[in-house]
Amino acid sequence: MTDQNKSDQTTSSEKPWGGRFSEPTDAFVERFTASVGFDQRLYHHDITGSIAHATMLAKVGVLTDAERDQIIEGLKGVKEDIEAGRFEWSVSLEDVHMNVEARLTDRIGITGKKLHTGRSRNDQVATDIRLYLRDEIDVIAEELARLQAGLLDLAEREADTIMPGFTHLQTAQPVTFGHHLLAWYEMLVRDADRLQDCRKRVNVMPLGAAALAGTTYPIDRNLTAELLGFDRPTENSLDSVSDRDFAIEFCSFAALLMTHLSRFSEELVLWTSAQFDFIDLPDRFCTGSSIMPQKKNPDVPELVRGKTGRVNGHLISLLTLMKSQPLAYNKDNQEDKEPLFDTVDTIKGCLKAYADMVPAIKAKADNMRVAAKRGFSTATDLADYLVKKGVPFRDAHEIVGKSVAFGVAENRDLSEMTLEELKQFSDVIAEDVFDVLTLEGSVQARDHLGGTAPKQVRAAVARARAALK
Ligand code: ARG
Repeated sequence: MTDQNKSDQTTSSEKPWGGRFSEPTDAFVERFTASVGFDQRLYHHDITGSIAHATMLAKVGVLTDAERDQIIEGLKGVKEDIEAGRFEWSVSLEDVHMNVEARLTDRIGITGKKLHTGRSRNDQVATDIRLYLRDEIDVIAEELARLQAGLLDLAEREADTIMPGFTHLQTAQPVTFGHHLLAWYEMLVRDADRLQDCRKRVNVMPLGAAALAGTTYPIDRNLTAELLGFDRPTENSLDSVSDRDFAIEFCSFAALLMTHLSRFSEELVLWTSAQFDFIDLPDRFCTGSSIMPQKKNPDVPELVRGKTGRVNGHLISLLTLMKSQPLAYNKDNQEDKEPLFDTVDTIKGCLKAYADMVPAIKAKADNMRVAAKRGFSTATDLADYLVKKGVPFRDAHEIVGKSVAFGVAENRDLSEMTLEELKQFSDVIAEDVFDVLTLEGSVQARDHLGGTAPKQVRAAVARARAALK
């Protein structure tokens, strides 16, 4: 909150709503109830909405064409003032809407006072947030697509790189690193889809609902909606001014996105540790320690993981804000902005960091390979081999279990045993067993839609690229 207006108690009649008041607003209450400290970021959309509103009012004869032109010129001037830093936001004028309107009247005189005909700040603010969020959604969608494209390039580059796949964070079966990256990619496909779905419900226009019941002027809501690029006007005036579902949906999209980014982050943090040592992150995405000279910390993934908390928190804030609210507008709704704005800022930052960082991830293929071998990751392949030779699966499981126990005792992988050693567990085992016991044999054998074979990874990348366009 800017301090400059702390002491300037306005008299009640200076307030746009001051007519029925007999004493000035308490100085603290004025600051306590004001939103201009944070809603000033809506100025651009507020002015865009007002220009469309004035255009519509002239079209239906509520304003003259000359008044409309004067108002539009004036609003453009206000915007220039704000952008040139010539605008002092006044706390006594409460919010962005009344600040802009007051400046308009300063600039063009009495005609400025006609702009608010047939509308209320209740439908105005609901419209402004939707215009703002629609623009931000489009920026976020682009940043998300940039990250997706980066993941696809990396997945293609690492289509043949073999790493251990995990369940319970224990080595399970070999997978290709490209395949692992495509799992992350799929999460983002769903996020992008949810974002576009949310946009449909954002892009509906509440303006015209006025305070709650509509207005007595012959407004043309379809025209205003069209001028502002909305798909359509909202249906019900009470719902229009009170609905914040679209903000909740957006925050829910964001919470899931952050959940996904936190999962990537956790893996990157693990993989950069000396214990895994699977990847290298470039120095420009890491920081050091002021006491331990050897340290290179994966701060970007750690911070993204941490920021998931605040985004989840904002979702809960908005859900709680709306819970049990009676129709229609309530001052409570002013509390929708900070959680929404911070969610937008946070996910934009996280997406930018990830989109910049992902293409620069370097796989340490040799280390991944050694780790894949270490955990008997081809044991399932041996069981499948036995089944294909006629051994029932349960028996095959038992045979392989014994082979693994032998390997543990001998400190050798299955692929490092001799044929004679393997044959002591089952006499159906023959020379061709080594085709399936190697890491390459194991991944190549999973050669179907959605499988980890390098060929499938390349095909999946090609399909994903076509869909992303
Ligand atoms: N600053 C308010 C908000 O953000 C604008 C709407 C206020 N309407 C009212 N009747 N007080 O919600």
